[in-house]
Order: sequence, then structure tokens, then C-alpha cells
Amino acid sequence: MKKYLLTFCLFLCGLWGSAQSLLPAPQRVRMHEGAFDWSRGYRLRYADKALKSNGWAQPVSEWAARASATRSDKHRVLLLNTWQEAPSPEAYSLHVTSDSVIVCAASRQGFTYAVATLQQLTKAGKTACCDVTDFPAYRWRGAMLDVSRHFFSLDFLKKQVDILSAYKFNRLHLHLTDAAGWRMEIKRYPRLTELAAWRTDSLWKTWWNGGRKYVEEGTPGAYGGYYTQQELRELVDYAAQRGITVVPEIEMPAHSEEVLTAYPELSCTHEPYKQADFCPGNEATYAFLENVLTEVMEVFPSYYIHVGGDEAAKASWPDCPLCRQRMAEEGLTDVNGLQSYLIRRMGAFLRQKGRCLLGWDEIIDGNLGEETTVMVWRNPEKGREAADHGYDVIMAPGKYCYLDGYQDAPSTQPEAIGGYTPLRTVYDFCPAADMTPAQRSHLLGVQGNLWTEYIPTPEHVEYMLYPRLLALAEIGWTGEERKDYEDFYRRALHETNRLRATGVNAFDLSHEVGNRPEYTEPLRHQAVGAAVTYHHPYSPYYSGSGDSTLTDGRGGGWNYGDGRWLGFIGKDYALDLTLDLGTAREVTEIAADFYQSGGAWIYFPTEFLIEVSEDGENFHTVYTHGVPVEKDARSATEWWTWRGREQARYIRLRGKCGLEGGWIFIDEVVVR
Ligand code: ACM
Ligand code: ZN
Repeated sequence: MKKYLLTFCLFLCGLWGSAQSLLPAPQRVRMHEGAFDWSRGYRLRYADKALKSNGWAQPVSEWAARASATRSDKHRVLLLNTWQEAPSPEAYSLHVTSDSVIVCAASRQGFTYAVATLQQLTKAGKTACCDVTDFPAYRWRGAMLDVSRHFFSLDFLKKQVDILSAYKFNRLHLHLTDAAGWRMEIKRYPRLTELAAWRTDSLWKTWWNGGRKYVEEGTPGAYGGYYTQQELRELVDYAAQRGITVVPEIEMPAHSEEVLTAYPELSCTHEPYKQADFCPGNEATYAFLENVLTEVMEVFPSYYIHVGGDEAAKASWPDCPLCRQRMAEEGLTDVNGLQSYLIRRMGAFLRQKGRCLLGWDEIIDGNLGEETTVMVWRNPEKGREAADHGYDVIMAPGKYCYLDGYQDAPSTQPEAIGGYTPLRTVYDFCPAADMTPAQRSHLLGVQGNLWTEYIPTPEHVEYMLYPRLLALAEIGWTGEERKDYEDFYRRALHETNRLRATGVNAFDLSHEVGNRPEYTEPLRHQAVGAAVTYHHPYSPYYSGSGDSTLTDGRGGGWNYGDGRWLGFIGKDYALDLTLDLGTAREVTEIAADFYQSGGAWIYFPTEFLIEVSEDGENFHTVYTHGVPVEKDARSATEWWTWRGREQARYIRLRGKCGLEGGWIFIDEVVVR
């Protein structure tokens, strides 16, 4: 009896384990005893005959055919039905007993998600008995891949579609164009793929720092590539079968160096290699963009067409006769008006074709018309601002949703663009935070973005995407109401191991090192609470927790934007401050914590001095140190420490950055 009980408990645990490991977590799930054993066969029935002809349930029937033995058993049924009054077009439900499986959904997509859940509930050919009622919290659950900075094969994109679909994503956004290479065949403009798709160096960083030249297709050593329209159609169909819409992005008016080298007449000066921005004064620009978008719309049925719109320098516009003329004609008071004009005009063009313009949050500036959707990449506040204008919003703020930053201690990781965005940070994102109900009504959903400047291989893409994308899967599908990181982490660990076992190069979450101990544990020392006088101010953008940042006992972490670091910029001694310990005392150690990241223009000081004084007037130097600027420096931190024996009440720190425009980032100053 005892043995039987133990077996029974283990069996229950196994099934309960299935439910507990579902990711994203369903809205409602109840597990029951027993399992449906596919190896014993089944009979397929349609409760709604329409499903036989509309093909919606095909993902389930095909999955079941693969999961089971070929024999049929008329006493065991797989019943498929249309869910007439589903809470969402993407909803599905499952009712699994030991002799029946009932799947209901309101669309083909719903049946696709039902398969994703069935798959996770099935171990060794047996699906755990359960009742699941499930639907997404958000309509947009996206992932973006930058295929411009590095190019990835069609097969690799299909593999990612399979993975995204298994976690109930419904959008794959392709960043198809940027300075680093144009990636879509456009029949009307062959130079885009003969020239603009190819560059001199395979590594983006080498190319970017080494001249940024394009070469003709077929040149020995040329790096690049593009997708033919036929290939992209194939991808669109493949993704649609799996519940995913492919969203194309064509950058304008900026990030377009490659176009303006292939077609220099579209820039203000008509010279190749001079500009990143189209000339918005020239009518030819609109003809080009409309012709390109026309071919894009022929290939991509997506309602949303992404036109970029970010980071326009507009440098050539003020002096361009055509731009000035356009400003005068349109009554635009500055060059920002030209950007809005271009975006507005493209929005009208897309609207007239039954599509919707989608762009990065810079497009909020200027009056765009209602049918516009904004993808937030800067501060989440931009999402609220966009919603207040009446635009629909997709949240992808860099702090949480950019997956190109380090996911663990930088010294343990392949080189990344910088920052520190571990799984926990992504999971902590709440897209609807601080939104009013009216603003929330415009919130379509969330997206994770992978920029690939530092990510040259498909294996590296997977390493950066997973498991962090799983956090966004959970936020997008399950929602943000019942977060529990420990529970999520356990499921993410399980999925990461499963992905790795099936040939996906996910980051090994089980070996995560985590944030710096300085960040996670309080620092105890003599200067905690000491007043600090800043002889040169810290930047308002990197102001930590204000004047007390350096003496609050809380160290900076791997992310220089984590609110614990102070950033200094400027000529001469940009870092210049004095600590007051309150009374003179014996001091044996003074240590300052510095941050470095070449990608963010943050460097260790080229010159750094520690001076001490008893009276605040007569200082003497006890420590000097400095290192040359290392432009390419990877993210790192270093404590610079003096040890000795001094009487001191005042401690003055001074530091220079040897590069104009470079930063010094410092956090705790520890005194013992
Ligand atoms: C962006 O990261 N510039 C959208
Ligand atoms: Zn111009």
C-alpha cells in the first residue's frame, strides 16, 4: 500500500509539474489525475463542421497525428470545436481526460496556441488531464530581429518563428534596412541589393570603425546578403501558419546611409557616403519611398508597416535649398517640422492603401493623424505621451526590452553593446505601469528587440534572445497582474534547459552569476552618510540618487543607468568633489568605484587624484592613478584604492577623461 501511495504521489507530482511548467502561464488552469495516452490511438471529430473546411484546427489535428500511433480507437476522441463567444480572437480552451481531448478556439491562431500548450503538457506521449481556459493579456506580442547589422539566413528565421510560436508570440518584426546593409529585394531599385546590401567587413564593429564602405555584390570578401521577395513570401506564409505576422521595417528618414550611397540623388547634397538622412525637400524622395513601400506591401500583408523614424540628425536639412523651400511652402518653422511632414505624408500614403504606419517614438512629434501606431524605445513615459495623442502604443523601452545588453556579469559574457539587462530586469517590466484607463486602451502590447551590432552569428542571436524573450512572452500573454519571479524563474530554467537540449543556443540560466555584490549587499564604511560638495556638477541624466549617491552605502551595478552611478562630462577635471567626514580621524583606505564601457563613451579616468585635509584648506595628494582611453573598452568596473595612514576630515577626488565628449562614471567612495 505504501509503495502504491508513493507511486501515486510521484505520478500526481509529475502531472502537477506539467501545469507548473507552462510558459507563458495560462489565464486559468486546473490539473486533474491521469493522462490521455496518445499511443492508444484516437478518433478525430469536428463538433463544428466549418472547421473541416476553414482549416483553422489543422495545427491541432497535425500535432495529434504526430503525437499518436497510427491506429484509431473509436472510444477515445479528439474533439475540435469553434469557440463562439471567446474572450479574445486568440483564445483557446482545453479539456483533457483519460479518454478525450476537447480543443476549442476562435481562430486558427487560437488552435496554434492550443498546440503550444498541449506540447508543454505532454511528456512521453501522454498529455496530463486538465482544464485550461486561456487568452492573451495583450494583442501585440512581438520580437524584433535586426538583420541589417548582421545578416541571418531564411532557415534561421524560420527556426526562430517555430520558437516564437511555441511561446505564443504573434509578431516577428524584421529591421530590414539600416546603414549596415539593405536586406530586401526591391525590383524597381536594383542598386539596393547590388550595392547597398554588401559591405567590406563581416563584423559590424570593424566595418563601422573602419570606413563604412559598400561594395558591389560578388566582390571577393564582400559581406552581406538580402532576401528575395520570393523568400520573404515563403517566410510570411511559414509564420502565418504558426500564428505569427511578419512586420517589415524600412527606415526613413534616417539610418539610410546605404540607400543614399546607392541612390545619392535622394540626399540633400547628392554625394555618396555623406549623409544618413533622405532629403525631405525633394519630391524624388517620396516617389522612391512610396515605390519601395508598394513592393513591401505586396510581399507583407501586415496591417502595420514600420517606417523607423528614429534618430534623424537632420544635419544637411537647414542648408539644403529644396528642404528650405519645402519648409516655406508647408509653413514649417524648423527642421523637426520636415521630419513630421515626411512621416505624416507616408502615413497618409499607407492609410490610403489600407495599412497603418508604425514608427519609433520620435514620430510622436508632429501631428500624425489617428491611424498611427508608436513603438516606444526610449523612456516608458513616451508611451503615455503617445496614448494621450490618441496613438496606439507598443512598449519596447530599451531599459527592459532591448536584448542586446549584457544578460550577466560582463566578464563572463561575449562582448555586448553594454548595459546590463538580466532576465529579472526584463521580467520586471510592466507595460501598463502608471497608465490611466484611457491610456491603457491604446496599449497594444510589448516587444523584445535584438539589435545585432555585436551579434554576428545565429548562435549568438539565440544566446541573447533566450531565455530573456520568455519573460516578454509571459508579460505579453499572461499579463502583469500576478507576477512572481521565483515561479517564473523556475519555469524559465526548465524551458531554457529544454531549448538547449533541442539545439537552441540559449544562455545557460543555471550558471547565472548575477549583479555585483556591491549592488546586492550594503557597503559598510566610515563615509556612509558623509556630505559631498560637488565643485563641478554631475550630469542631470546620470544623477544616481543625487548628492548622497557616493556615500549612501549602495554600490553601482553592471548597468551604468541603474541609478547608482554618477556621470561626469566636461573639459579638465569634470570629476571634482570633496567629502566631509564631519571630524578629523585616522584614515587607512580610500577607494573609488569606476565604470567603463567604450560603446557608451564611458572611460576610466586618464588622471585621478585623491587629496586629504584636516582643515578643508590645506590638502595634500596621497594617490594618483590614470589609464589611457581605450576607445573599444568592454564594460567593466574597477576599484581604485589608496592604502596608508593619514589624519583627515576632508577628502577631495579629482578626475579627467582624456577624450572630448567622454564620460567618467563613479559610484561609492569607500573610506576606512
Ligand atoms: C532605436 O533603438 N534607435 C530604435
Ligand atoms: Zn534636402
